[in-house]
Amino acid sequence: MAAPAVLTTAREAADIAEATRRAGRRLSLVPTMGYLHAGHVRLMAEARARADVVAVSIFVNPTQFGPAEDLSRYPSDFAGDLAACAQAGVDVVFHPDVQQMYPAGHQTSVEVAELSRGLCGERRPGHFRGVATVVAQLFSLFRPHTAIFGEKDYQQLQVVRRLSTDLHLGVEVVGMPILREADGLAMSSRNAYLKGAERTRARALFMGLEAARVRFREGTVEPALLLGAVREALRAADVREDYVALVDPDTLVPLARAVPRARLLVAGFVGATRLIDNVELG
Ligand code: PAF
Repeated sequence: MAAPAVLTTAREAADIAEATRRAGRRLSLVPTMGYLHAGHVRLMAEARARADVVAVSIFVNPTQFGPAEDLSRYPSDFAGDLAACAQAGVDVVFHPDVQQMYPAGHQTSVEVAELSRGLCGERRPGHFRGVATVVAQLFSLFRPHTAIFGEKDYQQLQVVRRLSTDLHLGVEVVGMPILREADGLAMSSRNAYLKGAERTRARALFMGLEAARVRFREGTVEPALLLGAVREALRAADVREDYVALVDPDTLVPLARAVPRARLLVAGFVGATRLIDNVELG
């Protein structure tokens, strides 16, 4: 497999986008923060199937981290990421530094108001402003026909969809199902933080979601009972709840009664590591 071209400046990214469009070719973008795993590889494969040119951005975006969060210790392995991109047939890797994305004088941010309010948005103030801002920049630079995101960050996916629609960016935002480890743990770069027994305890997030799903299939529709099933699994594994919620899959508004397309989301701390997961109920 040929190594992808590595671009580090906004100018180079815009030039590739322009050349691709001029040639009448389709471009698909996979935005990432690096430390790529099999879940990302699945996103790249989807991008490959949908476009002539596949670009992957690798940028740990500082504006989406709160002051007490893990920006400075976010895991990275650029050589490994490049190898994974080459293997997946990626054409372009965009790896800018912070100055490229936020040069001196930068003062514009993007806010997707309502969708950013609850869930992770409530627990991580400013997080989705940072995500929306950097994704809007990436969409402006690459003008991709499609952009591929994982459903693990379900709220992020809805925020990005809204952003593309509201700003008339014309990017088709594609959400891909969560890829899981053999025991159900959702794949995430942050799983690298889990030490020893924490890795086993982390299964509780998915086990709780599954337990709630079983109860729904058996006829339970009261949110309190379904959320209770998730909480029970968290408690049993000593995972500290950040939130558990049953929401409408499009608006993310909490539901008074479970329905098949409802989305059940959980965030919890396994030791110091915050993990998220979600499932469709039906
Ligand atoms: O999901 C991520 O890795 C990031 O939030 C994203 C979309 C690349 C924006 O920095």
